[in-house]
Amino acid sequence: MTDEIISVIGGKQTSGTPGDVYESVNPAHLDEVVARVGLADAETFAAACRTAAAAQTKWAAVPAPVRGRVIASIGRLVEANAETLARLVTREIGKPYAEALGEVREIVDTCDFFLGEGRRLYGQTVPSEMPDKSLFTFRVPVGVAAVITAGNFPVAVPSWYLVPALLAGNAVVWKPAEYAAASAHALHRLFTAAGLPDGVLNLVLTDGATAYRGLETALGEGTVHKVGFTGSTEVGRRIGELCGRHLQSPCLELGGKNPMVVMPDADLDLAVEGALFAGFGTAGQRCTSLGTVIVHESVREEFLTRYTRAVADAAIGDPSGDVLCGPLLDERFAARFEEYLGWIGPHHSVVSGPVGRITPDNPRRNFTGEGGLYYHPVVVDGVRPDDRLFLEETFGPIVGVTGFTTLEEAIGLANRPGYGLSSSIYTTDPKAAFRFRSGIGAGMVSVNNSTSGAEAHLPFGGNGKSGNGSRQSGVWVLDQFTRWQALNWDYSGRLQKAQMDVAEIIPDLDFRL
Ligand code: UN1
Repeated sequence: MTDEIISVIGGKQTSGTPGDVYESVNPAHLDEVVARVGLADAETFAAACRTAAAAQTKWAAVPAPVRGRVIASIGRLVEANAETLARLVTREIGKPYAEALGEVREIVDTCDFFLGEGRRLYGQTVPSEMPDKSLFTFRVPVGVAAVITAGNFPVAVPSWYLVPALLAGNAVVWKPAEYAAASAHALHRLFTAAGLPDGVLNLVLTDGATAYRGLETALGEGTVHKVGFTGSTEVGRRIGELCGRHLQSPCLELGGKNPMVVMPDADLDLAVEGALFAGFGTAGQRCTSLGTVIVHESVREEFLTRYTRAVADAAIGDPSGDVLCGPLLDERFAARFEEYLGWIGPHHSVVSGPVGRITPDNPRRNFTGEGGLYYHPVVVDGVRPDDRLFLEETFGPIVGVTGFTTLEEAIGLANRPGYGLSSSIYTTDPKAAFRFRSGIGAGMVSVNNSTSGAEAHLPFGGNGKSGNGSRQSGVWVLDQFTRWQALNWDYSGRLQKAQMDVAEIIPDLDFRL
């Protein structure tokens, strides 16, 4: 069954530009169109921002605990529709069903966290330096958040923006990835069913370039006050530049080249299990997916033997079954992945077997898919610090391996690509774990755990090419969607001048024992 979907602005279905229709295709069955998506133009995006701005003030006036109840209802609705939503995610982007269910769970976790925040959203009382005067801080919503998200986590990652933004009293214009539009549309319906007033959460279905133009207009008109973006470093830079011109700092969640260091004292089976999930779970298409294994020379050979065996045995195929790895998200991602495969050079050794698309002519043992955008998982040993394979994100099922001899060298290698999202170390030595933590530039560090799979209530985000230091999730994301307002209230009946009319207690600073 093919859905016909269009944008929803101010509670109304808003048709796209005539003739501009995108087909969201099941990457496991390329002849199955999941949704026909009527794409909006740039003016429609800007109009959605105006609608959001008009609805925001009323929403902000709803008491925060009541907004928290709406978040609670969203969580319940998502939970009650979990299997249907997860099945849709699997159908639309090929994410293995168990992972899709986990992704839906992450929305519920996020709602569980923020429903209580509606009754907290604390400000502070602060002592004044003068009598009969009180100081306070208040969190105030920023206004309208424009949220632009990728399709590898088509529902969980958007919820990291939408849930706290709405809870804090903002209105939102959400532009999801076209190739995940049906999943986004379904999630929007669940949010709406929870009772959000019209115009508070608007869904604009369009492509990236059009959204960028619409955003440019909206920022110029003053109807967007915060941009949230999850996607590539390249596009993140452009969004950062655009927001900077309007004196705004966006919340950017960009790519990663996430390292995993395997120390000589590591539990190698555990490291292999972690590297298998981090490298090839979600077909390597998480921003937290493993980029390079940096393994101590003394265990390199043994690690490689066990890792290649695990990769060879991994279940790949139909994502509705029990597999580690399904197809790539979409044709565009498959084409780009083939480019990355072209970065494998003569000095590398592919230790995992065949490379490229899995077809009857290029088969894989125990493969359960049929057609679809399935690729062989690739492990490349001998990557060097100047290789593109070592330095750049390679979204897809490919992992590089290199060796090291000292922890310092390993930390240097781990930081070298200049990203800084996730990282991991396998060791049984606490000293090594803590030295790695303080030496690594990543926003997230795992010890004896894979680079991916962060819990939904720790700060999520990166540094360097992975982002501008903004953090999502938990209480930390509130700093993205609220601004601090300081209030001072003088009830002395006089003008008391700060720094000047302050009582002084004179110490005897020459005093010695
Ligand atoms: C992403 O790929 O953009 O930590 C997010 C993880 C997931 C989120 C990934 N919870 O791997």
